[in-house]
Amino acid sequence: MRLPPYDNFPTIYDEKLTLRQIQYSDLKDIIEISFYDSVQAKTMIQVTEMQNKIHQDYLYGSSIHWGIADKLTGKIIGTCGYYRGLCNGEGELGCILLPQYRGQGFMTSALSLAIEFGINNMGLKRIWASTTKQNNNAIKLLERLGFVKMVDLDFNEVEYELRQSIY
Ligand SMILES: CC(C)(COP(=O)(O)OP(=O)(O)OC[C@H]1O[C@@H](n2cnc3c(N)ncnc32)[C@H](O)[C@@H]1OP(=O)(O)O)[C@@H](O)C(=O)NCCC(=O)NCCS
Repeated sequence: MRLPPYDNFPTIYDEKLTLRQIQYSDLKDIIEISFYDSVQAKTMIQVTEMQNKIHQDYLYGSSIHWGIADKLTGKIIGTCGYYRGLCNGEGELGCILLPQYRGQGFMTSALSLAIEFGINNMGLKRIWASTTKQNNNAIKLLERLGFVKMVDLDFNEVEYELRQSIY
């Protein structure tokens, strides 16, 4: 099991996307999708503070948060990562796309990269995600990637998981 932090922040890619570390110069592009620990940052100051917290958590080994860059432009179009459970060989997967990039397959590609990295490099045995029952796009995304519904949670949420054996 090789958990964060790494000597070099892991950059992974396919033919259309790169998952990479978010730079301060990216932050203006992602204000609208800057959520962390269920809190939304709404100003540049808040987004910068959030980015500092994200980096501290990465250095502490409790999470890894990638910016999803469109290879054509280099711009960040969304984020994804593992936010909890790493010390137990598990990872809570989270993700969000800027609205104008939804419905084009970007997140399916990004999460395929993150899942492959989580299993083969981080040694995760279980990856899970939770969302509200009405979040059809997230549920379709998770099912497309092979996640199965595990349990209904409080607050109208549902948990999905992917086990290494079925990946
Ligand atoms: C959840 C979320 C990331 C899903 O985004 P998405 O755009 O539906 O997912 P993808 O980028 O993988 O795109 C898949 C869609 O693009 C379509 N598509 C179009 N061209 C495509 C292509 N070349 N390749 C693959 N899919 C393509 C697919 O058919 C699919 O649409 P469908 O679900 O209507 O069948 C997005 O709704 C979001 O950011 N929501 C807010 C945050 C959130 O809810 N996060 C989830 C927490 S678990």
